[in-house]
Amino acid sequence: MTALIWSIAAYLLGSISFAIVLSKLFGMDDPRSYGSNNPGATNMLRSGRKTVALLTLLGDAAKGLLPVVLARQMTDLPFALSMIACAAFLGHLYPIFFKFQGGKGVATFLGAMLGLIPAVGGLTLVVWLIVAVTTRYSSLSSLISSVFAFGLLVLYWGKGAWILWVALMVALLFWRHRSNIAKLLNGTESQLFAKKGI
Ligand code: G3P
Repeated sequence: MTALIWSIAAYLLGSISFAIVLSKLFGMDDPRSYGSNNPGATNMLRSGRKTVALLTLLGDAAKGLLPVVLARQMTDLPFALSMIACAAFLGHLYPIFFKFQGGKGVATFLGAMLGLIPAVGGLTLVVWLIVAVTTRYSSLSSLISSVFAFGLLVLYWGKGAWILWVALMVALLFWRHRSNIAKLLNGTESQLFAKKGI
């Protein structure tokens, strides 16, 4: 029951879209109106405002990290913690405050991994960075690192019902990146540090 209440709180926190809120705060265009139209840190980078993009990344990651870290005071059960992480992730993808039209979930997923097992989150971030630096495709880095994180968690926790929640996150992350996957396949995906409209 308590895990359910934590999950509702995590969902509400996840529903705060930092890309949209910070854009309004800094008088910028709505991120849903340019680039990939995604309210996320990568698309915020296309606005040219690197600091605001970084703040978006940190804010969206904190939404995944905080609920898990706080809930750990109550339980260590992988199932409960993964459910709470997934709730924050779902909030980011389907935010109650923004007509359920949210982002792709990468930063929130990374934050959640850091909260679940810091070593897994840290290694996932390293994989993300390696793929991003070598290919300059944020989406490809996100897809590869999410599968990597899932594999690491299985190694760490072993099989269990928690897999349901993490598999759901990875599956939804892929689903949300379907247009990126199509563009990666036909060679039209935009690379990191490309500007608006691309
Ligand atoms: O964080 C989302 C990233 O993986 C892709 O973003 O804006 O290029 O679709 P975007």
